Amino acid sequence: MQKVILITGASSGMGYETARILAEQGHRVYGAARRVQKIEELAPYGVQALPLDITDEASIVACVKEVISREGRIDVLINNAGYGYLGAIEDVSIADAKHQFEVNIFGLARMTQEVLPHMRKQHSGRVVNLASVAGHVTFAFAAWYNATKYALEAFSDALRMEVKHFGIDVVIIEPGGIRTDWGLIAADHLRDSAQGGVYEPTATRMAEGMRKLYLSNIPTAPEVISRKIARAAVCRHPKTRYLTGRGAKLLVFFHALMPTRWWDALVVNSMSKL
Ligand SMILES: NC(=O)c1ccc[n+]([C@@H]2O[C@H](COP(=O)([O-])OP(=O)(O)OC[C@H]3O[C@@H](n4cnc5c(N)ncnc54)[C@H](OP(=O)(O)O)[C@@H]3O)[C@@H](O)[C@H]2O)c1
Repeated sequence: MQKVILITGASSGMGYETARILAEQGHRVYGAARRVQKIEELAPYGVQALPLDITDEASIVACVKEVISREGRIDVLINNAGYGYLGAIEDVSIADAKHQFEVNIFGLARMTQEVLPHMRKQHSGRVVNLASVAGHVTFAFAAWYNATKYALEAFSDALRMEVKHFGIDVVIIEPGGIRTDWGLIAADHLRDSAQGGVYEPTATRMAEGMRKLYLSNIPTAPEVISRKIARAAVCRHPKTRYLTGRGAKLLVFFHALMPTRWWDALVVNSMSKL
């Protein structure tokens, strides 16, 4: 059955690919982000581009209103927009940490609040939230990103319980490392935030390592995860969480088994070997 789908962060990476896949399947897909011209590349597939800055209240309201005025309903909201501001806790300003929460949590929450009344009226709907393995496993220099994704796990589980009796479901996608701009943006923040400080040598090496990793073929290709996101968005009986991407399940499994100090030592040792 054809669904009306709104996906945030559709200008790049997993959002871009997911929008394309769902439009190819015949769904009515609205892709939203700040770089609208990137989404417009997907017009031949049928994706409709909308401007959205998820930190801007008026932009969120206008985006949802536009889809409702054109379609009269929203069946699926895919909350995908997000980024990683990596850096040592001492180095990342509270303003930058808050901005990360604005995008990864509060913006996502406002989008959800804006869409839910329409889903309740329809007595159906699905919210798909892009979390991360970083919502289960903690890394040094990723405290704020980790914090947003841990928060998103709790937010999503609470939301699922609250809206179930309105016929609305909530699904969490938990990717491991995926080959998108995310890694390059995060590496740049890590390098820049450490300039001139005590963490600079380690952070610079780690940022360089991340750049190499995200430009290599080691991270999973975004199309692979996007096919899973697309399936989770429209299949009849979705799972509550999809832990996915190369090594993601193993990482979370061993992290859960390992005493915390062993995990700490593993992370710190691997950083010193970079
Ligand atoms: N790549 C990974 O390894 C990985 C792993 C686990 C989870 N994730 C999560 O997966 C999601 C998608 O990331 P990706 O890997 O596909 O990264 P990406 O290629 O960098 O895409 C991020 C998207 O978020 C949008 N965005 C950022 N700030 C925004 C804002 N203020 N308003 C509206 N849109 C905004 C960007 O659009 P504009 O800049 O055009 O606005 C872009 O389309 C994120 O939530 C990320 O945290 C990524």
